[in-house]
Amino acid sequence: MFRIEKISAFDSPELRPYATMRRPLEQEREGIFVAEGVKVVQRLLRSNFTVVSVVIPESWLNDFRPLLEIRQEAITVYLADKKLLETLTGFSMFQGVLAVGRIPPPVSLDDIFSRNQKPLLFAAVDGLTNAENLGALVRNCVAFGVQALIVGETSSSPFLRRAVRNSMGTIFQLPVIELTKLGLRHKFTTKPHATNSTLPECLSGLRSRGVRCIAAHPHTDKKVLSQADFSSDCCLVFGSEGDGITPAVLESCDEAVAIPMPPTVDSLNVGAAAAVFLYEVSRQRGRS
Ligand SMILES: C[S@@+](CC[C@H](N)C(=O)[O-])C[C@H]1O[C@@H](n2cnc3c(N)ncnc32)[C@H](O)[C@@H]1O
Repeated sequence: MFRIEKISAFDSPELRPYATMRRPLEQEREGIFVAEGVKVVQRLLRSNFTVVSVVIPESWLNDFRPLLEIRQEAITVYLADKKLLETLTGFSMFQGVLAVGRIPPPVSLDDIFSRNQKPLLFAAVDGLTNAENLGALVRNCVAFGVQALIVGETSSSPFLRRAVRNSMGTIFQLPVIELTKLGLRHKFTTKPHATNSTLPECLSGLRSRGVRCIAAHPHTDKKVLSQADFSSDCCLVFGSEGDGITPAVLESCDEAVAIPMPPTVDSLNVGAAAAVFLYEVSRQRGRS
């Protein structure tokens, strides 16, 4: 179900999410996110996420019509001139096509355990704040069959516009457990869709249910990737760009595993490291 409205400005309250694309925390508080680019918006419209509105140039309407017609919710399709769209942040990236969707309600570990076949595969991120890297990691998670992504309380949201874009819309297929710590910092208290827990607490919960938590850690000399065993339920934990995995999170894991590298290279980009780990999991589980 959709209705069409032509616009000549982004000044009405319904259009505020598009006009405030540089203020992502406001959007998170409202439980919404912005999707950008033709492919990402098409994937959003094919997903079971709730879509609030779409902004496109009139020339795109016929391409989007079949996808809009099958939606059950009431979507407003705003038609805007290219000149107006060019006034928005990042026009060259979004090709004049944008949408606002709702961040889904939180999923629980119980949901993940009951809905999936074993061996389970979780990924977790600790302090990952770079939205592009987070998006790339999400894409890898979906490509290699991760059943849920746990986003630590000091990480960015995978629903940030740039994370959604870099995930190429695969975020719409991945159950996410976003953690928050009430009272930690203002920024972390305002996610209506987040679960009140810390990453070490969440990892302990997983371990008590038989899930092995494996830190991807370039600085261990105890085990390299080819020696690790991913055949049973496990959660791969990845660290931040600057500091890697924090000591508290490292201590909450069963073991640390490194991708071997020459001494002249400090580490891989987290998205690349995740792809290497996840490929090895798939290989060991006979899926590659
Ligand atoms: C850019 S790295 C972090 C670099 C950070 N300066 C450090 O010293 O840990 C980001 C994350 O990618 C993963 N990673 C990168 N290279 C890795 C490697 N060689 N082995 C295992 N994990 C790696 C880890 O989870 C790491 O925390």
